[in-house]
Parts: sequence; structure tokens; C-alpha cells
Amino acid sequence: MTTAMTPSSAPVLVAEHVTAGYGDVRVLQELDLRVHAGEIVALLGRNGAGKSTTLSTLAGLVTPSSGRVLLNGKARRDAPFRRVRDGLAYVVEERGVLLGLTTAQNLRLGPGSVADALAYFPEIEPHLGRQAGLLSGGQQQMLAVARALASRPRVLMIDELSLGLAPMFVERLLQALRQAREAGVGVLLVEQHARTALRVADRAYVLNQGRVALDGPAADLLERLPEIEHAYLGGDPAQT
Ligand SMILES: Nc1ncnc2c1ncn2[C@@H]1O[C@H](COP(=O)(O)OP(=O)(O)OP(=O)(O)O)[C@@H](O)[C@H]1O
Ligand SMILES: [Mg+2]
Repeated sequence: MTTAMTPSSAPVLVAEHVTAGYGDVRVLQELDLRVHAGEIVALLGRNGAGKSTTLSTLAGLVTPSSGRVLLNGKARRDAPFRRVRDGLAYVVEERGVLLGLTTAQNLRLGPGSVADALAYFPEIEPHLGRQAGLLSGGQQQMLAVARALASRPRVLMIDELSLGLAPMFVERLLQALRQAREAGVGVLLVEQHARTALRVADRAYVLNQGRVALDGPAADLLERLPEIEHAYLGGDPAQT
């Protein structure tokens, strides 16, 4: 395992030797990961590597059987909503947009203001009165990220940012993540497209079967991408 360059700011979110899973099934094995304020961290790995489980565990939806999760330097074992209140925003893979509600109603479900959400994504303003289910996938993802950022989080976790989205939306979403980074938000980004993630990220972790196989500066991993894809990001090893 390579050692990543450590940014000077304090970590806002830490997984420390976390082992976690579902019932008797261990998914994460002694996972160590940290996100600092004002950096974008990519979390990569093939299907089933444990990326979503990592975010769920950091959020408090899955409880570690050993190890610790720290938010703003404090160990947490409490409920997800308390972590959200303390600055942990989480955009789940399904986006968490309520399709029967309008865009504005979805934004008001979050703790942040509609104005703050629109500051990140002014282009959703014309859609405020529209039912979210009528928005495109890209617009729904912008809505989900806007709502999360409007809560002024210390750290934002996003599961599968670009899944199924047109490149134009992906670029727009990445731009918002850069803007959030400028504002000092730490971002943990799970992304299927390694190149997309590594282009925007400062650092990255590669998961393999629930363990950190590799971590380091995103630029270094980008240089070694063909080799990394071959070793860790190819098809499901169970199917090959
Ligand atoms: N709710 C659950 N109950 C039992 N096993 C689960 C559950 N969720 C995930 N798993 C298993 O945990 C392992 C890791 O899954 P996880 O969803 O964290 O992977 P992932 O890296 O996010 O994959 P993908 O790229 O497909 O989203 C897989 O073997 C999966 O089958
Ligand atoms: Mg997943």
C-alpha cells in the first residue's frame, strides 16, 4: 500500500480499522480511510468491493463490529440523523429524491435553505414547481447534490455520482464538487468511472474485497490507471 500525501487540515471523517458487514457476512476488513476538509477523495473498486457499505458505515446505517468512525475528531456510534446534524451529508445511490414531490418540496426536506441550494445549481430554479419525477436523471442528481450541499456540510459523501448520466451533467456535478471543496467541504466520492473520479479528486482509495488495496494522490493513481484497472477495477472476480 502506498502512503498518501497527508493534507495539512484536520480530518473531518475517519474510518479507523473498521470491520463491518451484514449479519455474519463481513464486507469491510480493517478499513482505514480519512477525508480532510477541502479535499475530494475518490473511493474506487469493482462491483461488490464494499464502496456503498463503506459509506453506509460512515453514515451510521451499518455498525462496525470493530474499529471506529470519527466525525470532526469524535468517535461516533450514534444514529445517522445525528451525524447529518453534525455535518455529514450523504447522497445515496438512489439519490433520495422523492419523485412525487416538487423540486422545491424536495429542497425543503433538507435542513438547508433553497437559496443555498440554488447558489450551487441555479439551473434548477426554473424547475422548482415541477414534480421531481419529471426531471431527467441529471437534474435529479443535481437536486440531490444541491440539497446535500445546502445543509452546509463539513463532509459530503456521494454514492455513484455519474451513474446513467449524460457527460454534460457529470461535468456540471464535478464543477459543484470543486466549488464545495473551495468552500472547505470534504468530499468522499464513490464513482464507477475511475478516470472521471481521479480527474477531480485530490486523493483516492481503491477497495478490493473490503480492504484498501491501494491509496495515494489521485494524480499518481491516474498515471497507473491501466494497471490499477486490470488488478482491481475489472469485472467481478467471482464471475471471471
Ligand atoms: N444489505 C445487504 N445485505 C447483505 N449483503 C449485502 C448487503 N448490501 C451489500 N451486501 C454485500 O456486500 C458486498 C459489498 O457490497 P457493496 O454494495 O458495499 O459494494 P459496492 O462496492 O458498493 O458495489 P457496486 O459497485 O455494485 O455498488 C457485496 O458482496 C454485497 O453482496
Ligand atoms: Mg455500491
